[in-house]
Amino acid sequence: MSDKEVKILAIESSCDETAAAVVVNGREVRSNIISTQIPLHTLYGGVVPEIASRKHTERINQVIQEALREAGETLDDVDAIAVTYGPGLVGALLVGVAEAKAIAFAKNIPLVGVHHIEGHISANYIENPDLEPPFLCLVVSGGHTHLVRVKDYGEYEILGHTVDDAAGEAFDKVARSIGLGYPGGPKIEKKALEGDADAILFPKAKVADHPYDFSFSGLKSAVLNYINGATMKGETINEADIAASFQKAVVDALVDHAMLAIDEFGCDKFAIAGGVASNGAFREAMRAACEKRGVKFYHPSPILCTDNAAMIGAAGYYDFIQGKRDGWDLNAVPNLKLGER
Ligand code: KG4
Ligand code: ZN
Repeated sequence: MSDKEVKILAIESSCDETAAAVVVNGREVRSNIISTQIPLHTLYGGVVPEIASRKHTERINQVIQEALREAGETLDDVDAIAVTYGPGLVGALLVGVAEAKAIAFAKNIPLVGVHHIEGHISANYIENPDLEPPFLCLVVSGGHTHLVRVKDYGEYEILGHTVDDAAGEAFDKVARSIGLGYPGGPKIEKKALEGDADAILFPKAKVADHPYDFSFSGLKSAVLNYINGATMKGETINEADIAASFQKAVVDALVDHAMLAIDEFGCDKFAIAGGVASNGAFREAMRAACEKRGVKFYHPSPILCTDNAAMIGAAGYYDFIQGKRDGWDLNAVPNLKLGER
């Protein structure tokens, strides 16, 4: 198996991107097609699950066809199908899972169900040929904030997670409160460039007795209270200062947790992943903090941070070579825990 190329067709449909990719040996991306539904959901201020499922159904065949065409492959050339089966929106996941099963069944190709967060972590393998476990990884997306010890391929220990809102969710909610719309992360990042990050001191929440857990709902409430207070006093609100100060509070909390884990576990490699990992201020703060400790810092390109299928192909490859296979009973698992199968 090791001398032969393993070509994986990967499918991702857990939220609001319909995506397919062809990935060779887990690290070489031959195609990475993403059909985003963001403009559609923007009309409603967030993802509407039923609309997401319907759009996935409408687009998935074309997206897969395009991924194969761009890679110069056909279904006959594919060694395995990898598909996200959780966590995510159940109706959205089902579209990808049903599609993957249909192709695997019709073509008699092995099927591998992939954990979405494992996909985000594995996005780091694609552009960093030197990156191998063990390392520490902070996964920060719209649905997840997980500090993870990657002990080996497919072997994870969750050190901490959010006890309320995910980091990306906090970005989305605060963006809405200052009229920036969905998705909030990129809009806050842009607005923050015009603002003063030290203008407003927002709390950097900690969770008592759980140093690796995160909490962002208090920070979100502090921003809302600040806006309400200022409005009641008839003061003008400086959205750029709010965006910059809020972003700094999130970034500081993320970096503090990451450094605590580095100091305790003594790992020499640290990676970030997920939609929020495309945030420039976060990346630079992490890079500086890691450099100070002599720790090598990794992050995927923005296109591999937000949801995509190339990362599912990377994770699926390591599952595949470890012999993991799923049967025709593979189902969507909306609350799938990392490390569970
Ligand atoms: O990983 P992802 O595409 O989907 C999930 O698995 O959740 O992450 C989407 C999240 C959204 O909450 C979005 O606001 C946030 O990532 N995000 C950002 C940035 N780009 C996307 N947050 C901060 N700064 C960004 N540049
Ligand atoms: Zn994601």
